[in-house]
Amino acid sequence: MKLKQIVQATMAVTALIAATAQVQAAEVEVLHYWTSGGEAKSVAELKKMMEAKGVTWKDFAVAGGGGENAMTALKARVIAGSAPTAAQIKGPSIQEWGKEGVLANIDAAASEGKWDANLPKVVSNIMKYQGHYVAAPVNVHRVNWLWVNPEVLKKAGAKAPGNWDEFFDAADKIKKAGMIAIAHGGQPWQDATVFESVALGVGGADFYKKAIVQLDQASLTGPTMIKTFDTLAKIKTYIDKDAAGRDWNLATAMVINGKAGMQFMGDWAKGEFTAAGKVAGKDFLCLAAPGTDKAFTFNIDSLTMFKVKDDQQKSQLTLASAVMSPEFQEVFNLNKGSIPARAGVSRAKFDSCALKSMDDMDATSKSGGLVPSFAHGMAIDSAKAGAIQDVIAKFMNSTMTSQAAVQALAKAAKAK
Ligand code: BGC
Repeated sequence: MKLKQIVQATMAVTALIAATAQVQAAEVEVLHYWTSGGEAKSVAELKKMMEAKGVTWKDFAVAGGGGENAMTALKARVIAGSAPTAAQIKGPSIQEWGKEGVLANIDAAASEGKWDANLPKVVSNIMKYQGHYVAAPVNVHRVNWLWVNPEVLKKAGAKAPGNWDEFFDAADKIKKAGMIAIAHGGQPWQDATVFESVALGVGGADFYKKAIVQLDQASLTGPTMIKTFDTLAKIKTYIDKDAAGRDWNLATAMVINGKAGMQFMGDWAKGEFTAAGKVAGKDFLCLAAPGTDKAFTFNIDSLTMFKVKDDQQKSQLTLASAVMSPEFQEVFNLNKGSIPARAGVSRAKFDSCALKSMDDMDATSKSGGLVPSFAHGMAIDSAKAGAIQDVIAKFMNSTMTSQAAVQALAKAAKAK
C-alpha cells in the first residue's frame, strides 16, 4: 500500500470510530444553580470527573442564589416531558418530586457503593423515596455562620462577637468607623437565611424545632418569636441602603474587600473567600452566628435523578457513583465551602472552618442541636416554606411590627 492509501485508510477508520463513538455517546444533563465564582469552580470538578469517565457533561445552569429560578426552569422542563438527567433538589422537595412519579431508582449505584453504611442516617433518609435511593448527596452545608473580616474589626476597634450584645457592639463600632456593619442582599431567601439564624440564636435549638420545623402555633406567636423579629428589626438598621436585590456573593465580596464587616450566610460564602485566595482564621473568620454555637443548621445539596431513557441509565448511575466517591467529595467540598456528606474522606486538606463544621455536626447530632435549615428547603414542604419566606421578606422591607409579623407567620404556616 502506498503512503497516501495508508493515510486515507487510517482516516476512514478514524472517522468510523468517531461516528460510532458519537452514536454511543454517553451524556448527562445536570440542572444546578452553582454559578458564583466558588460554586462554578466546584461544579467544574464534577464535569471534569465525568468527562474522564467518557461521559459528556451538558450544563444546565440557572443563575439565582437559593435556587428559585432553577426550580421554575426545572418544572417547565419536566412538564414538557424533557427532564434533565439530574437536578440540584433537596430536602422535602425530593419527596414532592417522588410523588410525581418522575424520579429514577439508583439503588444499583447505592448498593455497589455501600451508601447505607457510608452515610449518616440524617442524610440517607433524605436521599430515598419510599425506601429507594433517588438522589446522591454532594455535601453538607452549615447555614448558621457569621463571616467576619478581622481587618475591619481592627480598624473599628471591635472584637469578634460571641453573643448578641457583642454583635451589636461590634456593629455599632464598624458603623461609626464609616464602614458597612452587615453585608446583605435583599432577596427573600437571604432574608430567610438571616431570620433562621436569628431565631436559632435567640431561642435555641428546641425553640427552632418547635416553631420552624413543627410549626407549633404557640411557638410561632409567642414571646421568643417576637424577640426574634425585634432582633431582626435591629439588624436591618446596620444594612446599607443599596442592599435591595443584591446577590449573596456580591455581599460576600463586600466582606472580602473590607467594605463591610460581617455577613450572615451559609458556608457557600467560604467558597467565595477561598476562590479569592483568602485564608480561614487569618483573612476571614467563620463564627457561629451569635448564640448558635451549640447548634448546626444543615443544608444538604444533592443531585436528584430523573427517569431517563434506557440508553442513558448507565451514565446516570456513573454520575451517582462519581458524586459519592471520596475523591469527588473531597475536591468539591474544598471548593464549595461545605463538608463531605459521606464517611471515609480524609480531613487533611480541609481548613479550620470545615474542621469546626465537621466536629460541630458530630457533636450536635448527639446533643440534639442538629436542625434542618428552613431557608434552604430542608425543614418543611415548599408551599409552607414559600409562604413563611414571604412574611419575612415583607417584614424586612416595610415597617411591619413584630406583633403583626408573628401573626402573619402563624397564618403562613398553615399554607397548603
Ligand atoms: C445551596 C448552595 C448554594 C446557595 C447559593 C443554597 O441553597 O444549597 O449550594 O451555593 O444556595 O445559591
